Amino acid sequence: GGASTSPAKEPFVVDSPNVEYTDASIKSKYTYRTTAVKKNADGKYVAAPKETLYDFKVDRKIPKLGVMLVGLGGNNGTTVTAGILANRRGLVWETKEGKRSANYYGSVIMGSTTKLGVDSETGKEINIPFHDLLPMVHPNDLVIGGWDISGMNLADAMDRAKVLEPSLKALVRKEMSYIKPLPSIYYPDFIAANQEERADNLIPGTKACNDHVKQIRKDIQEFKAANGLDKVIIQWTANTERYADIIEGVNDTADNLLKAIESGHEEVSPSTVFAVACILEGVPFINGSPQNTFVPGAIELAEKHNAFIGGDDFKSGQTKMKSALVDFLINAGIKLTSIASYNHLGNNDGMNLSSQKQFRSKEISKSNVVDDMVAANTVLYKKGEHPDHTVVIKYMPAVGDDKRALDEYYAEIFLGGHQTISIFNVCEDSLLASPLIIDLVLVAEMMTRIQWKAHSADAADAKYAGFHSVLSILSYMLKAPLTPPGTPVINALAKQRAALTNIFRACVGLEPENDMTLEHKLF
Ligand code: NAI
Repeated sequence: GGASTSPAKEPFVVDSPNVEYTDASIKSKYTYRTTAVKKNADGKYVAAPKETLYDFKVDRKIPKLGVMLVGLGGNNGTTVTAGILANRRGLVWETKEGKRSANYYGSVIMGSTTKLGVDSETGKEINIPFHDLLPMVHPNDLVIGGWDISGMNLADAMDRAKVLEPSLKALVRKEMSYIKPLPSIYYPDFIAANQEERADNLIPGTKACNDHVKQIRKDIQEFKAANGLDKVIIQWTANTERYADIIEGVNDTADNLLKAIESGHEEVSPSTVFAVACILEGVPFINGSPQNTFVPGAIELAEKHNAFIGGDDFKSGQTKMKSALVDFLINAGIKLTSIASYNHLGNNDGMNLSSQKQFRSKEISKSNVVDDMVAANTVLYKKGEHPDHTVVIKYMPAVGDDKRALDEYYAEIFLGGHQTISIFNVCEDSLLASPLIIDLVLVAEMMTRIQWKAHSADAADAKYAGFHSVLSILSYMLKAPLTPPGTPVINALAKQRAALTNIFRACVGLEPENDMTLEHKLF
């Protein structure tokens, strides 16, 4: 074992008898340490350390990767595309505050660091870019394409979005103008009626059918071939749809869902058709909007095909704050009693959400984000007790993409006192969401190159398997994290980040990050 070759892109090697590098892969034997709890006859908890041995294998070859966005011509689609072009070309542009240069701020993978360990001589922390933990794709190398029901080229579409500085737009305009979204599927009943005007780039047919699945698969194959790609990841960043009703015999099982598509059932949404096409094509599909794209039949289909899915709803502004702040309050022993969340925004997303059924999807995804933190604190909350929580969203055209999120957190403190925290959060929506789109792509792709199994002495590769189809590791970037059926949802932001970090570390045989710093604490 131990260190051997390391491509330039991997800035560290792990020196351990449990870790083996080959040209193709990094293999590690990893001890997963947990605590198993039982109740004894007296009703007392008995906690016992538990160890499980796993073998991990990481494919070191970084693929040529494509991203296809559904909703490419929207605010997020145009912003993420322009952002990647700007980074790739190292662009610098004038703003009223001086020159600004392309960066990946807001991306946890590209913009944050993580502690690798402690310098064995100085005792100081060594931190490395998160991106360097594993051999990951660089976003500058992503090839972008996708679909939109609006046929506008991306140069005009970025003007329509009103997100980027004119000086930056001028520098990317030409390249953006060459990108034109592929025609998409449009079932008017699923998004707000106010979107109809922009629907001029359509695959014929207004309800689900096999032809739609086939066309999407063909689009993916052609995009892959035309750009010489090894892999493609698809993300839904199109308008928020209404919820689909879950109907027995229609979308409750994989087989029923496929039949429902074949027969053109009206309760199958465009996003579910995209999901099904991707699952059948073996391409990861991530849902960045709040609707229930992943009806039970879609999840079952993904499991059957070992295809990766992830969702739901990008967590960019208000909810990200909420999942950090509520984590802090409740873990500080402060009894949060209500959260009032108001939003107003003036972009096309806001216009779509001004319609009741689409708002309802957003309301649901924004509402459950504190459940796990509340349920975990049995000191502050009785069983079933819950803080009051209300979510309001209003369409206010004048503020454009600069969404306002006003939140009041009201809490009970020592001896009947109160703490009230008011937050006014101006979320430049697409500039917050675009780096998440990149993170979701990079992490989902990385997961396609990690295999693992319960440890066994015989090294047969055949027994390795991938992660479960439902990529809960993406939770940090998502408001209503989808997890494998029957498994808990974690909303606390710090826990989500710790899971991401420590799974990445495990893949190369490193212990989880703990903040004990015992080496500095012995008297
Ligand atoms: P947008 O309205 O600017 O863009 C959506 C695009 O999707 C439009 O260009 C529209 O023509 C297109 N579209 C609609 N239905 C389609 C279909 N069936 N096939 C292909 N294209 C279709 O919205 P924006 O701001 O880019 O947001 C996109 C989605 O991301 C929304 O659902 C929003 O709720 C969600 N989201 C955005 C966040 C953010 O911007 N911070 C945070 C969380 C979620």
